[in-house]
Amino acid sequence: MSQFPTYLLDHAAREDSHTLKVYREHGGYTALEKALKLMTPEAVIDEVKASGLRGRGGAGFPTGLKWSFMPDPEKDKRPRYVAINADESEPGTCKDRVLMREDPHGLVEGTLIAAYAMRCEAAYIYVRGEYRLPYDRVQAAIDEARAAGLVGQNILGSDFSCELHMHKGAGAYICGEETGLMESLEGKRGHPRPKPPFPAGFGLWGCPTTVNNVETVFNAPFILNRGSSWFRSMGTEKSPGNFLCGISGHVEKPGVYELPLGLPAQKILDEVAGGIWKGRKLKAWIPGGSSTGFLKPEHTSTPMDHDSLKGIGSMFGTGAMILLDETASVTRSARILMDFYEHESCGQCSQCREGTQWLSQIFLRIEQGQGRTEDIQLLEDLANGMAPGKTICALSDAAAIPTHSVIRNFKDELEEYVREGGHPEYRGTQVPQEAGA
Ligand SMILES: Cc1cc2nc3c(=O)[nH]c(=O)nc-3n(C[C@H](O)[C@H](O)[C@H](O)COP(=O)(O)O)c2cc1C
Ligand code: SF4
Repeated sequence: MSQFPTYLLDHAAREDSHTLKVYREHGGYTALEKALKLMTPEAVIDEVKASGLRGRGGAGFPTGLKWSFMPDPEKDKRPRYVAINADESEPGTCKDRVLMREDPHGLVEGTLIAAYAMRCEAAYIYVRGEYRLPYDRVQAAIDEARAAGLVGQNILGSDFSCELHMHKGAGAYICGEETGLMESLEGKRGHPRPKPPFPAGFGLWGCPTTVNNVETVFNAPFILNRGSSWFRSMGTEKSPGNFLCGISGHVEKPGVYELPLGLPAQKILDEVAGGIWKGRKLKAWIPGGSSTGFLKPEHTSTPMDHDSLKGIGSMFGTGAMILLDETASVTRSARILMDFYEHESCGQCSQCREGTQWLSQIFLRIEQGQGRTEDIQLLEDLANGMAPGKTICALSDAAAIPTHSVIRNFKDELEEYVREGGHPEYRGTQVPQEAGA
């Protein structure tokens, strides 16, 4: 949508955008230089705080505030780390890979600025294992940057030194959860840790650590170069800036688009995604990755920002919209999602380990025509037992939220399946034995 100012994907559109030469020809690393030569770490944090940037990894936590949680280095002499979350495994989410593949130096520069602001001596970039080209591009960018004196000892002649290390995940969604990610980086099974202690106090190897999403730190060089007021000129007051909107499902033009926060979802669907495909109607949509739940067509008047989506019982999440046309089955889509959460639950908490399994089985039996009227209440009761505060991490809630949303917004379909014998494909057919188990 060209009527909106862009910045996140501008460089990605250039030929050989992934090389240091082209990145520097277009102002690359000037924000890092400005930070190192003209700003104290505290001033960098203040600028990011003033910008109002919120984390793009899912929770939308204010980034500058998060950076300020790191302990005072004068009082706490332990090593300090920043970990970049490039695990990107939330279904529907596919934005970080574009940044890493097309603009890897943007990520390296953003990471170094974050490391400088928090006085970290090393940064770890944890990349989803399937992202081979993005991984290779970021590794090549680190190598180029190191050779140019931008990574390692005394960066750009300053007294700031920082090493950058890459790590490849092995296909577990739970390793995107920040404490699971840290366990995995330490070489252990990616089992989330109870919080508190929070990573800023006890993170990687028991040292102060901040975990940030790729797109989050990618914003930092722009904020330092152009200022927090410029950043606030885009988006909304409480959710400023642009975001990368991954659009998938039954639309004419799926893809990753840069948009200001706060645009109504309907406008994005019509003017960016080209509308629902094949001239069909919208039945359901997910605003920000699978964990944010299923919404109705009338909810598309809602602005895509953190507070507005929260106001209708959903979340902005990762800004990844998934759209389903009128022929889709919400019950089947929910069952497929529950299969995913069941598979990805690390199993430490019984509510999550058993709950995700039960949700998947109950959605399956409703889908296959063996559902009972009381199953709808059972789904709700199970999801209530998986709420935040009852489990170690939020994966459990990530399965509960879509479940609640189906009951709230698509109860008619669940009731129809119970009454009529399941998904139309199953009506009047013999159901496999295990489906109703
Ligand atoms: C099950 C689960 C999976 C997650 N996966 C990712 C992920 O792939 N990438 C990501 O940035 N954040 C993910 N998160 C959120 C992280 O825990 C963390 O909040 C985020 O990386 C913080 O970065 P931000 O403040 O820059 O948004 C996940 C959270 C949960 C509960
Ligand atoms: S909520 Fe689920 S994924 Fe998270 S720690 Fe507990 S069992 Fe593991």
